[in-house]
Amino acid sequence: MKHFINLKDISSKDLRKIILDAKKRKNIRKKLNTLEVDKGAPLKGKLLIQMFEKSSLRTRLSFYLAIKQLGGGTVTLRSNELHLGQGGESIADTAKILSTYGDGFMMRTDDDKKIENFKEHLSIPIINGLSPSSHPTQVLSDVFTVEEIKKKPISKLKICWIGDSNNVLDSLIAASVKFSFKLSIGCPKKFEPSKNVLEWVRKNKKKIFIFNDPKKAVRGSDVIFSDKVISLNDKVDKRKKTEQFKRFKINKKLIRHAKKDCIFLHCLPRGSEVSNDIFLGKHSRVWQQALNRVHVQKSILLYCFGKLR
Ligand code: CP
Ligand code: NVA
Repeated sequence: MKHFINLKDISSKDLRKIILDAKKRKNIRKKLNTLEVDKGAPLKGKLLIQMFEKSSLRTRLSFYLAIKQLGGGTVTLRSNELHLGQGGESIADTAKILSTYGDGFMMRTDDDKKIENFKEHLSIPIINGLSPSSHPTQVLSDVFTVEEIKKKPISKLKICWIGDSNNVLDSLIAASVKFSFKLSIGCPKKFEPSKNVLEWVRKNKKKIFIFNDPKKAVRGSDVIFSDKVISLNDKVDKRKKTEQFKRFKINKKLIRHAKKDCIFLHCLPRGSEVSNDIFLGKHSRVWQQALNRVHVQKSILLYCFGKLR
């Protein structure tokens, strides 16, 4: 049984295997309808329990389609409708019940410790569907999207992130180490990645490049990533933070500093960090990026269920 909690805890070899499997599966099912099951129905009869403590559109739907296309099924729980931590029901008891009824558990939470707590008491795999410290399913899928569009290993490309040092960036930094790609980050000084994250990069003998000038970060990039300035778990003065990021808006002027054929990716939902013309324009691949989550998460599920080819 394998968990999928943080990219940094999974070997580069396994991450690469997941991407390769996703590529094969995506190609094979080109002519199949949305709910048609992959040949061999590798997860036939399996139940994925999903639990959301925060809003989600894409993660919820893409996991639904992923497990369905593998022959299994899913049920989605809202944490506020469970006993979870209330009325005397411990996480240990909830985890025991989840393991009795289900085969896998995907959760989105505001608390990294809760994932660890569940992991300790579950006897089924757990997948992190976004936490304050990471969004691993999103970023692994984004690596897949970059390679699919650029038709090159990501290690041969220059990747840039313009925006907040949040969960998605933490996973992108982990991916830059695991897949050995060059990552430049553009953000205000006050919002640079945490010491812990930078220390982990150093320990792994890798380097990331941080700029407080967005033009310098973008220069020569093949891919520009961004995300909302205000994340779901952000308890900040929203107006002040948005103002501090004003200079970092991705617009026509800024994108000129990247390579001519650079692509723009964003996990959605979006905010004021990107202009409408860039988000909907010729550089943007955000819809393809969103759809690919289905394909990559199928292979993540197979990895967790010990069925990856
Ligand atoms: N990108 C992403 O995780 O979207 P949702 O919050 O809608 O799941
Ligand atoms: N950083 C964002 C990602 C949303 C998918 C958040 O945590 O809200």
